[in-house]
Amino acid sequence: MTVHFIGAGPGAADLITVRGRDRIAGCPVCLYAGSLVAPEILGWCPPGARIVDTAPLDLDAIMAEIAAAHANGEDVARLHSGDLSIWSALAEQMRRLDALGIPYTVTPGVPAFAAAAALLRRELTVPGVAQSVVLTRTSGRASAMPERETLAAFAATGATLAIHLSIHVVRTVAATLIPFYGPSCPAAAVFRASWPDERVLTGELAALPGLVAEAGLERTALILVGPALGAETYRESALYAADYDRRYRPGGAVGGGA
Ligand SMILES: C[S@@+](CC[C@H](N)C(=O)[O-])C[C@H]1O[C@@H](n2cnc3c(N)ncnc32)[C@H](O)[C@@H]1O
Repeated sequence: MTVHFIGAGPGAADLITVRGRDRIAGCPVCLYAGSLVAPEILGWCPPGARIVDTAPLDLDAIMAEIAAAHANGEDVARLHSGDLSIWSALAEQMRRLDALGIPYTVTPGVPAFAAAAALLRRELTVPGVAQSVVLTRTSGRASAMPERETLAAFAATGATLAIHLSIHVVRTVAATLIPFYGPSCPAAAVFRASWPDERVLTGELAALPGLVAEAGLERTALILVGPALGAETYRESALYAADYDRRYRPGGAVGGGA
């Protein structure tokens, strides 16, 4: 018996990996994390599968489900939205499984920030403009931020910021960032990227809180901020430059690269 942790992607059912889909199809038990996992994805569970929404359960209750499946020798598909490496509660579940001696695998998924960037049709790292992306959040009821991980500290780098779990405090976020990025820095709020009701609000950083309030959207959104979001004048990457000597193109390109 094995627990398969699977990143279910940002929403759209066809943004799960092939491996994730196949693992779901092979498990008679599926535990999924609430409303951020699309119903179509649950449709890949085998007929008769036990399918449990874990949103109302605490960690002990989730472990009780897994222990029951373990006792029956049934594999479990454990689905979380996006990728498992960020804000998935993966670490605490794996620690419990280690203590119980229950084996598990981890299958990555498409994170929400990547889906949001795709929707915006933007590269978050643009040569000479931004070469780092900070995946962060503001303090919530469940998790306080470590003391040094402040928005201001990240903003001081000028990197592209992908701020999760914070749309309800967009006004504070903008006020904190404006001294670093300026009021006219490009910014976006992306709601439910890849879901049928996805929405994109773009504008200058100072205008973003107003746009969000006007749209009346309060949940499941990413705030993206940084000059890369609006960069139109930037140098091309050296990677495909004709005179760039690299391993598979020694001496540079002969014709156009791809
Ligand atoms: C608990 S975190 C999960 C993040 C997830 N593990 C990932 O890889 O993206 C939930 C937050 O991710 C963001 N999020 C998740 N899905 C999203 C989507 N489809 N569109 C925009 N933001 C999303 C929102 O900020 C939301 O509050």
